[in-house]
Amino acid sequence: MAYTVSKLKDFSPATLEKAAEKLLQALEDESAAIKNESDWKAFRDHWMASKDGVLTSLNDLWLKAAPKDAKRDVGQRVNELKKRVEQAVDGARQKAERAADSQSESDRLDITLPGIQRLVGAEHPIIKTSNEMVAVFRDLGYSVQEGPEIETDYYNFESLNFPPNHPARDTQDTLFIANQGSKPLRQQLLLRTHTSPVQIRTMERLKPPIRIVIPGRVYRNDPPDASHSPMFHQIEGLAVDTNITFGDLKGTLDHAMKAFFGSSVKTSFRPSFFPFTEPSAEMLVSCFVCGGSGRRDSEPCRPCKQTGWIEILGCGMVDPNVFEFVKDNGYDPAKVSGFAFGMGADRIALLKYGVDDLQLFFQNDVRFLRQFA
Ligand code: PHE
Repeated sequence: MAYTVSKLKDFSPATLEKAAEKLLQALEDESAAIKNESDWKAFRDHWMASKDGVLTSLNDLWLKAAPKDAKRDVGQRVNELKKRVEQAVDGARQKAERAADSQSESDRLDITLPGIQRLVGAEHPIIKTSNEMVAVFRDLGYSVQEGPEIETDYYNFESLNFPPNHPARDTQDTLFIANQGSKPLRQQLLLRTHTSPVQIRTMERLKPPIRIVIPGRVYRNDPPDASHSPMFHQIEGLAVDTNITFGDLKGTLDHAMKAFFGSSVKTSFRPSFFPFTEPSAEMLVSCFVCGGSGRRDSEPCRPCKQTGWIEILGCGMVDPNVFEFVKDNGYDPAKVSGFAFGMGADRIALLKYGVDDLQLFFQNDVRFLRQFA
């Protein structure tokens, strides 16, 4: 209950003293309860408002009502009380201001506090390797193409000239999507086993000449070990134009390997076989770990198994049978020729970083991955 001035029974010093004590007590209690500026304003108005504040009532009910002979005493008392009220209101204002200050103090930015550490993501070493290899071909004018990881038998095998009962389709190698038996073979879905289907997909869309590089994830039914994984990464390339020769294939890949591994590496081509290239080759690079000598620090070199050469990719001239599937889009095998190549990004990352277990790349232990960031 807010304090109100009451009339005095009499104007004796004792009565005045008691009434003054009661007033001062109320003044103290109310001022102690002030927490903010609006509390302070209410307090000020209660005590000092000229119309109905406590001081006005004091004047009316005490001073004006006092008989003549008591006026002097009562006047002194009232003046004293007035001063005390003014002091209390003033003191309370300072207190309210300080409270407001310390409030904004605690809201203020403390630039001496340590910041919130936000971890910055980094490329995975395989993606990094893949991007670096892709960049080499982009510099040669190749554009980047991508395709679906869930593929049809048609794009993954048939249009790449795999005969109907080629062993690569065996569940040994290929991961098929379940319950596809009722569909014709060419529409059956599988996890693509290589990035080569994007060759056909791109030739269906773009007319020759084309030069494309295709990074992506591929899948095979291989149990994981130090050099195998059921999911891995390839980088594919395809160039088609008039008069593309095996010399263009060799020159392009030799340049790319020097750009990627360093200008001192040599390349070597050995005959091989792929259904979609003819002739086909495996390309090796001279071992960039031992410099091709087969020995390092007088120990047998492990990455190249002491041969001085590391197998990096498969390649060849696009088989005319492949062009037959996209002949209508300008790929007449009598008019155009091309070369293609495909390499494993995971294997190249292993060799490049000297990691001896492929699984380390997929376990996602940050302590391992951080080294490549
Ligand atoms: N697709 C082949 C593989 O996965 C690699 C390759 C691509 C070979 C292009 C020749 C031409 O083994």
